[in-house]
Amino acid sequence: MTSRTLSESSFIDGLQYFLNASVTPYHAVLNISDTLKTFGYEELNFSSTWDLKADKGYFITKNNSSIIAFTTGDQFPEDGYRIIGAHTDSPCLKLRTTAQKKNEGYLQAQIETYGGVLQSTWFDRDLALAGIVHYINSDDQIKTTYLDSIEAIAYIPSLAIHLDREANSKKSINAERHLHPIVGLETAAKSTYIDLERWIRECLHKQQITCFDKILSYDLNFYDTQQSKVIGMNKEFIASARIDNLLSCYTALMSLVTASPLDRNMFVFTDHEEVGSQSACGAQSPFLSSVLQRISSGNLEQYQACISNSWLASVDNAHAVHPNYTDKHIDLDKPIINNGPVLKHNANQRYATNSEGTSFVKYIAQKNKIPLQHFHNRNDLGCGSTIGPITASETGIRSFDIGAPQLGMHSIRELCGTKDAWYLMQLLQGFLKEEHS
Ligand code: CO
Repeated sequence: MTSRTLSESSFIDGLQYFLNASVTPYHAVLNISDTLKTFGYEELNFSSTWDLKADKGYFITKNNSSIIAFTTGDQFPEDGYRIIGAHTDSPCLKLRTTAQKKNEGYLQAQIETYGGVLQSTWFDRDLALAGIVHYINSDDQIKTTYLDSIEAIAYIPSLAIHLDREANSKKSINAERHLHPIVGLETAAKSTYIDLERWIRECLHKQQITCFDKILSYDLNFYDTQQSKVIGMNKEFIASARIDNLLSCYTALMSLVTASPLDRNMFVFTDHEEVGSQSACGAQSPFLSSVLQRISSGNLEQYQACISNSWLASVDNAHAVHPNYTDKHIDLDKPIINNGPVLKHNANQRYATNSEGTSFVKYIAQKNKIPLQHFHNRNDLGCGSTIGPITASETGIRSFDIGAPQLGMHSIRELCGTKDAWYLMQLLQGFLKEEHS
């Protein structure tokens, strides 16, 4: 197994590359798996027995959209793991299984909203389509493949202000009526693509997947083709899609592969956080606990000691204060971009951080000279949540919630700070090597 050191600039380049390339949770997990393999991590599966060796790295995926990676260290799992949790999914528009309908001369994709989409931001964008497709091959086997149109094939135009004089003061969006993207014109369809399924088939042909006769199903979502950019007068910001929460995944991935393989470290990235984590591969599934049980060789006492000696850093972005909406934060807790990771507190357990977790994170931040900010939600505003409380209650592992501050959460294009991702990376590196418990 190899590990390496990383410069701040190559880390930011890598983050942007990862944000651009990980257009769906499936692509994110594929990219993470490829990186792990280059660092010597070996892939496992649940259906065979595991013969884990000391000082080695392993990973396992579930549903092609969730992934756990870990190092075995000295092979005493009862001493506990340092675990970083994050989610692979982002709110988006997914293609319905009834892919398309003709409407007033247009061909329109039929979509379903996924998670808490900030719907107004999906208008007037050049949208591409990506995800996975299941098909039957010539040997009558069901196969799965990745698909990415790369080029924009869809668009949701705004209604002209002349046709909606209240557009700036009272815009309301009906997700069933107003969000179906235009993908073409009926007239052109005679000579080119008649339907989206045929278009998907053509895309697969371009990927040299030709020996199949039937597409069985797919999980495809639209995404914005605009690439991630470093912006600002002093290049302070990164503007990109899917910053929530691929920034956390990439940062955790890099902190694991740069950590000592002699330690017992792990990350768990799960799908379906944006819809509540209740699925076979979500944070509420047995994915993490079953991996820890396997590492403990099915020994219950060893497993329970492992749970009791472990810590989970649940990493998900936090709300930076917005200069045009400053009253949405309480006066004493206004996280600022590039002022460091944000530790999230909520007495009602919407975040997993408690006073013990707070002291542990403060200790790591002080020891490694990393600035730390804090966030408490307003009492009169509903509080979001994360995989932190879910994973903590599923496994019993002590947990805290932390993340880089960002603006525009759940917009099709979000904004974060270049320094914060790097600070977060250093904090997670400190967490992974921290013996203190
Ligand atoms: Co998130």
